[in-house]
Amino acid sequence: MATEDKIRVLIVDDVAETRENIRKLLQFDANIEVVGASRTGAEGLELSIETQPDVVLMDINMPDMDGISATEAIRKKVPFTQIVILSVQGDSNYMRRAMLAGARDFLTKPIDIDELTAAIHRAGRVARTEKEKLSGVGLGEVGGGAAGGGQLIPGDQGYVITVFGPKGGIGKTTIAANLAVALRQQGGAVAAVDGNLQFGDLSFFFNEQGRTNITDLTPRADELDREVVGEVMIKNEASGVHILPAPMRPEYADTVAGSELGAVLRFLSRMYPRVVVDSSALLNELTLAALDASDLLVLVFTQDIPSIKNARLFLGLTEDLGIPSEQILLVMNSYDKRRSITPERVRDNFKKEVDVVIPLDEKLVVPAMDRGEPFLLRGANTPTGRAINELAEKVNVKLKAMVHSGVETA
Ligand SMILES: Nc1ncnc2c1ncn2[C@@H]1O[C@H](COP(=O)(O)OP(=O)(O)OP(=O)(O)O)[C@@H](O)[C@H]1O
Ligand SMILES: [Mg+2]
Repeated sequence: MATEDKIRVLIVDDVAETRENIRKLLQFDANIEVVGASRTGAEGLELSIETQPDVVLMDINMPDMDGISATEAIRKKVPFTQIVILSVQGDSNYMRRAMLAGARDFLTKPIDIDELTAAIHRAGRVARTEKEKLSGVGLGEVGGGAAGGGQLIPGDQGYVITVFGPKGGIGKTTIAANLAVALRQQGGAVAAVDGNLQFGDLSFFFNEQGRTNITDLTPRADELDREVVGEVMIKNEASGVHILPAPMRPEYADTVAGSELGAVLRFLSRMYPRVVVDSSALLNELTLAALDASDLLVLVFTQDIPSIKNARLFLGLTEDLGIPSEQILLVMNSYDKRRSITPERVRDNFKKEVDVVIPLDEKLVVPAMDRGEPFLLRGANTPTGRAINELAEKVNVKLKAMVHSGVETA
């Protein structure tokens, strides 16, 4: 490999032994060239400007400028340079701060050499694309978009679909997760967003308890870019759906304002043709913001009288909320034909047709949830799986018929 094709790496760490160890480890990779090493954040910044590295390996705790401030400064001065944080801190707070400062990756010490070289290669590829973009050659890939299979759509406009039902435990998350999978299988990239910020569990339905979540985006909801969003979205391999999880702890829910959630959803709809939002059972600021950003509402209820009562009360509010009836798909979940309440009776009561009836199937749905796998992946040919596909088709038909009223194209 020619020298100019090598990934140029700068090491910033205040411990001489660490710098030397990393340098030695990287000698064995012919595609990596260490172009310098520095002891402090400030020196790292200076050397970055001088050597223009592709990747900086950055420690966090250093005497003068800490690694997070240095990351921010380097990203400003040498925009294509990608920063990989190496830290003893496994703390998610550090990770979050590092990501917000513009770091590309975060590894904890002691460093595993395979993990480190893989991270350098990933960051190196991004640096190359960024360099090309800056020099006006080629468009490159957006935000690691190819990972997990979904094709992102730069500059296009997608749609937001919120799954809501004013009652707990009626299958909102089950339907949101499987609807996202069905839409993905019908083509195009799909984002699934957990709008239930306090006790959200959407990512568990995909067995993806990642290190990133929505609070990595909301503090800068007004200045998002595709690259950052691409970094934060968790790419679920099994389904191809990209997931934006809820915060790890319930108390973080309060840090997110409705307007921020709305801005994130609108931004995502410029990257993904379909954005599916799971919500809580509460009609709070966050749910209202999600509904406001939505093109379509999937309203879920079950055969129980309380669930039907609440759904009807909510339907009575939709006009005031500015949600026209044709933007609502009514879904009756966990349908058991032995019970007396039928979709026809609900229609007469609601004065609105039930669009999809999803049968009760405890053998399929519950174990899939326990495995952390959307049931559609194995159960497409069951009545419950077919009902989800029917819902996805109806979503697509409605969206196609709709004159888009959302934000302008990016
Ligand atoms: N069609 C179905 N057949 C059988 N079980 C189902 C069906 N739909 C959902 N369930 C089960 O019902 C339970 C609640 O589902 P889920 O978590 O999706 O509800 P939710 O409305 O999102 O709850 P919450 O209000 O707590 O967010 C889960 O155990 C799920 O597996
Ligand atoms: Mg839920």
